Amino acid sequence: MGANDSKAGGLDRVLVLEVARVTEAAAIAAARLRGRGDEKAADKAAVDAMRSELGKVHIRGRVVIGEGEMDESPMLYIGEQVGIGDGPEVDIAVDPLEGTTICAKAMPNALAVLAVSERGGLLNAPDMYMNKIAIGPGYPDGIIDLDAPPADTLNALAKAKGVPVSEITACILDRPRHADLIAAVRKAGAGVQLIPDGDIAGVIWTTDAEETGIDIYLGIGGAPEGVLAAAALRCIGGQMQGRLHPLKKEEETRAASMGVTDIRRKYNMNEMASGDVIFSATGVTDGSLLDGVHFRHGFAETETVVLRSKTGTVRRIKTSFRMIGTKPSI
Ligand code: FBP
Repeated sequence: MGANDSKAGGLDRVLVLEVARVTEAAAIAAARLRGRGDEKAADKAAVDAMRSELGKVHIRGRVVIGEGEMDESPMLYIGEQVGIGDGPEVDIAVDPLEGTTICAKAMPNALAVLAVSERGGLLNAPDMYMNKIAIGPGYPDGIIDLDAPPADTLNALAKAKGVPVSEITACILDRPRHADLIAAVRKAGAGVQLIPDGDIAGVIWTTDAEETGIDIYLGIGGAPEGVLAAAALRCIGGQMQGRLHPLKKEEETRAASMGVTDIRRKYNMNEMASGDVIFSATGVTDGSLLDGVHFRHGFAETETVVLRSKTGTVRRIKTSFRMIGTKPSI
């Protein structure tokens, strides 16, 4: 069988390890530039490493969520073909460095992230904002609605969890645009955990509320990050909705050119990530989801979580790479 066992359906499980290598390489490259105050350099290092590692995987990959359009990004642009070119046809969403600013400041929770799906499995979201709402597994269907007032959602969530609303915490990006949302959540009696960046982790935290203390993710962040978060949630379980949030007419035009016929459409998790999906994230800086890269004695140690929708497997991988000069021997 090839890397895509189409008779069994879905992606071959061998890909799980292959994609882990890809995010590991990107994380190590970015980690070398932690705390240097240079977002662009750290991002470029992650992009270069991710692209180079993707080039060793037996797939016919097409980037659907990437570093932008071909004319603005020479690498991992939307539509770029990646992989050796002799395996299954897959779609790929990448965020080689999620949290460029937090990496540049050596703050917690920067990640290297990638998702792979069967062809057509990932929403081709343009590079613009998306309004998002997400909760973890174990709740009745339909408990979240982007259009419902935050207080209604928080009360419904508290009821389903069997706790007072004062025991519910929402994770929200710390941005002026969220002032009304934050006020509404607090007025409803719930708590707010503000994060400086990194809303893929923000969504994933909802899947383990006991550990993270976060029950719900709310607010506007990147649409590409929304699709990646939906891919992760599809594997672990949970509910999510997203709606594109263009700021100008050109963004609506761009969305239309990428096949979005209704800019007001509310996408649910399965519409953003469908079929068999594999998601991988490696920590760049230490965080509550993953440890960052640790360099010691000629080795680089990484922590990666790889998720697979078909089996629901959550695989944590600790790897120690021998460094040859500045590069890991992957
Ligand atoms: P970058 O890694 O591209 O800097 O994105 C970080 C991030 O915080 C995302 O997690 C989030 O979706 C987006 O930026 C929010 O955008 P903005 O910083 O414009 O509010």
